[in-house]
Amino acid sequence: MSETQPIVRLQDVNVSYGTYHAVKNVSLEIARGEVVAIVGPSGAGKSTLLRTINMLEHPSAGTLAVGDFRFALDHALPTEALLKLRRSTGMVFQSFNLFPHMTVQRNISLPQMRVLKRTKAEAELRTATLLERVHLADKAHSYPARLSGGQQQRIAIARALALDPQVMLFDEPTSALDPELGLEVLSVMRELAEDGMTMIVVTHEIAFAAEVADRLVVMANGEIIEEGSPKEVIRNPKSERTQRFFRAILDRH
Ligand SMILES: Nc1ncnc2c1ncn2[C@@H]1O[C@H](COP(=O)(O)OP(=O)(O)OP(=O)(O)O)[C@@H](O)[C@H]1O
Ligand SMILES: [Mg+2]
Repeated sequence: MSETQPIVRLQDVNVSYGTYHAVKNVSLEIARGEVVAIVGPSGAGKSTLLRTINMLEHPSAGTLAVGDFRFALDHALPTEALLKLRRSTGMVFQSFNLFPHMTVQRNISLPQMRVLKRTKAEAELRTATLLERVHLADKAHSYPARLSGGQQQRIAIARALALDPQVMLFDEPTSALDPELGLEVLSVMRELAEDGMTMIVVTHEIAFAAEVADRLVVMANGEIIEEGSPKEVIRNPKSERTQRFFRAILDRH
């Protein structure tokens, strides 16, 4: 694959829940190393769109390409292709979903052994590197319940990175956290972005989007209503709907 080809490409993607049309004809291309923030009001379809990228949601129409894989979405994907797609994306949710009965080290190592068939020693070596990266090297032998929410979320990020994804997908990774703990997580995400990771981040953290994202995408009613350089979109939103959305966010602070 050439360096200039987008690493993620969605074309005319549609997702429905029964009769409800949650994502309507969305097209989006993400370049290698690009950081894209997705914002918009509740119910806009942000999570649905993100979950479509690793096929946690099943679109009824459109095409999806991630890395070298390209899929038409109007029929079921073969299991093998689905596994490859899932493996090439790392997902971080609002709730951290760590295994409570396993140590941090085991939480991060086990998926590497199961999915990538790494040996225990290989997996633990990689885990140690990743724990350094999220600044939690001293927590390898702790259980999740002993960690703060911010620490748990950084472990969840390390766990996703452990499978060597081509793209990291974040769905409101800080919205369950106190502001201070959220900052720890945002700072790790900022470092990841600086290291060149391709990231798609659904977030309400407008300051983070303005500083870290290369592009801001605004969704409402299942559609992308505006996109561009974050500072430009925030400072000078074109549509009335986007203006109203940013005004509501500013009023809240
Ligand atoms: N599993 C589901 N079944 C039925 N409807 C759903 C389902 N998931 C989402 N929806 C609906 O689809 C629409 C888009 O939901 P989605 O979760 O993608 O929005 P969102 O932009 O992520 O919102 P929020 O900011 O609240 O997380 C909403 O109207 C929601 O109620
Ligand atoms: Mg959501």
